[in-house]
Amino acid sequence: MDATPPVAAPAGSVPQHVAIIMDGNGRWATLRGRPRTVGHREGVKSVRRTVDECLRRGVKTLTIFAFSSENWRRPRAEVMVLMELFLVVLRGEVRRMNHNGVRLRVIGDRSAFSEKLQRRIVEAEQLTATNTALTLQVAANYGGRWDITQAMRRLLIETQAGHLNPAECDETTLAAFLSFPDVPDPDLFIRTGGEQRLSNFILWQSAYAELYFTDILWPDFDEAALGAALDDFAQRQRRFGHTGEQVESWVALNDRTK
Ligand code: FPP
Repeated sequence: MDATPPVAAPAGSVPQHVAIIMDGNGRWATLRGRPRTVGHREGVKSVRRTVDECLRRGVKTLTIFAFSSENWRRPRAEVMVLMELFLVVLRGEVRRMNHNGVRLRVIGDRSAFSEKLQRRIVEAEQLTATNTALTLQVAANYGGRWDITQAMRRLLIETQAGHLNPAECDETTLAAFLSFPDVPDPDLFIRTGGEQRLSNFILWQSAYAELYFTDILWPDFDEAALGAALDDFAQRQRRFGHTGEQVESWVALNDRTK
């Protein structure tokens, strides 16, 4: 067994990868006597604010849950508005994001989207592909179980083709087939809107994420709210299965050798 935590973030550090379930749009609108869809439109402004604040604070990857595999069960009109919003964001925001060095990526099963939306997604991804300031991953028609299942299916195809030996397949082998194998796992997993559950978001990748729940409804989530989440994260001791004493001695050793 190795004696030191392999990837423990030093206390006070900024999470490299933040994942967010943006919940509470519907309630935000209902509280104001407006249709739920007004909350989703307002939620786009929070997305913009959050992207800008992540850029400013040095977060390298932001993954947001825009539409889950299960959201198709919502009223048709609401699904239509969410799809339209997706197009609006791709049309209106991508140039700005590109200018700010954001690499945009959509994760999830896009085959269910209209051809126009799929085309826009590819165009946006291509336009921003070489940006390095922040990777923004928009999870759309995404589910954590879907991700693990599609990874397993692709891995099975590789083993059947003789490219991989099943006896040698381990966690790293499977993880390479998940939706975003090239970015580190989330350090901080935020859910707004008061509920405290994972809702089939990035399940595998969040195995060691620090969880942060806030009652703030997504349209009200602003720079200060993100700052509070990051401050809370900075106080956490991440142990990755080690003991607190091991982590402390590792941090002390690190400080001495600086
Ligand atoms: C959950 O709130 C939110 C969603 C299902 C959609 C999130 C979408 C946006 C923030 C806008 C689109 C963003 C992009 C990037 C295209 P809810 O409707 O479940 O709220 P409730 O719990 O109050 O009903």
